[in-house]
Amino acid sequence: MRKVYEVVILFLFSLGPVSSMVNWYVQSPKIVFGGHVTLFCNTSTVRNSCKGCPTSWFGGENFKVLSYNGFTASSSKYSLTTAADGFGITIKDFTENDLIYPYKCSYGFHSFVKHLTLDKNYEYQPSKDEIKTKHATYNSMLYVEVHLKKAHPEPNCTAIFNMS
Ligand SMILES: *[C@@H]1O[C@H](CO)[C@@H](O)[C@H](O)[C@H]1NC(C)=O
Ligand SMILES: *[C@@H]1O[C@H](CO)[C@@H](O)[C@H](O)[C@H]1NC(C)=O
Repeated sequence: MRKVYEVVILFLFSLGPVSSMVNWYVQSPKIVFGGHVTLFCNTSTVRNSCKGCPTSWFGGENFKVLSYNGFTASSSKYSLTTAADGFGITIKDFTENDLIYPYKCSYGFHSFVKHLTLDKNYEYQPSKDEIKTKHATYNSMLYVEVHLKKAHPEPNCTAIFNMS
């Protein structure tokens, strides 16, 4: 009876958030859509007890293996970095599809998973076909209308009128 009790306690403990010794965060100064975004997995707390442990990243659609021990499944989409404190993954040509999924880094038996979310400090530059403009003259006034589907931060639009 006592044995069963111990097993239950251990099991509950292993589910708790305290058990994650490694953690990842966005290393790029900000998320820029269309740019490269680097996630860094900091393993400094377990570095000494885990020399030579395999490193991996999971994430994206269907929570796939994105990399294993320095090899990536798709070198056109991901590249890998290493540092004394841990290892990173760079997501190339970042799109909204890279945002909606959780990412997990693992180092030996240690791992950390969370969703990649946006903070206020991100940048979305609309592409040319996401910008619609209309203009009309009325009572010798020029009216210009600019439609942007999505943009961040708040854009500053300037109209240049060619007088030549
Ligand atoms: C990793 O975490 C340690 C401990 O929290 C911290 O001192 C160190 O600066 C971090 N390394 C990087 C590259 O962020
Ligand atoms: C918007 O851009 C113009 C031209 O670069 C600049 O003169 C103006 O101060 C800007 N306005 C704001 C609110 O940032």
